[in-house]
Amino acid sequence: MDLMPIIKKRRSVRRFKNKEICPELIENILQAGRWAPSGLNNQPWKFMVLEGENKDALCKFTHCQSIIKSAEKLIAVFLNKKTSYNYQKDLMAIGASIENMLLYIHCQGLGACWLGEILNQRKKVHKFLKLGSTLELEAVIALGYPLAKTKTSRRKPLKDLMIK
Ligand SMILES: Cc1cc2nc3c(=O)[nH]c(=O)nc-3n(C[C@H](O)[C@H](O)[C@H](O)COP(=O)(O)O)c2cc1C
Repeated sequence: MDLMPIIKKRRSVRRFKNKEICPELIENILQAGRWAPSGLNNQPWKFMVLEGENKDALCKFTHCQSIIKSAEKLIAVFLNKKTSYNYQKDLMAIGASIENMLLYIHCQGLGACWLGEILNQRKKVHKFLKLGSTLELEAVIALGYPLAKTKTSRRKPLKDLMIK
């Protein structure tokens, strides 16, 4: 099993087909998220799946409305402050959980985009979703079947990233 092509070929997808994702697939994506590593194995994440009107309503809290509108579903990812032991480490764990989901999504022939810009209006999103103070929104994943072949992307050369 070679993970490298999967890592390299995953791209952010921002336009999606009008095609439903079956519940089993969503369940498996969330399973991939929950199997991420976390400090002290505290698993500080919580997930919420949004679709239909609830999904579209999030458009008003972000400049990424076209992505949200086009997506078949959203997965909102939260820090569960109840299980948090170290804010910085917990956020890293949540990042790992998100990347697990992105890679699994890609593997399944779906596409996704990690949305962070919406955090600028985090308080309004919380109010809209009627969330208690124990949850903190960290990202929204927009997902669906890709409409078109995704563009290429670039990375800095490895030699520029090495500290000697
Ligand atoms: C923390 C984080 C926040 C991001 N927020 C957004 C966003 O709000 N809107 C968006 O279109 N893409 C967002 N992205 C996707 C990045 O733009 C994308 O990953 C980057 O340009 C590299 O492209 P690639 O994912 O196709 O390799 C975000 C990615 C990360 C990791």
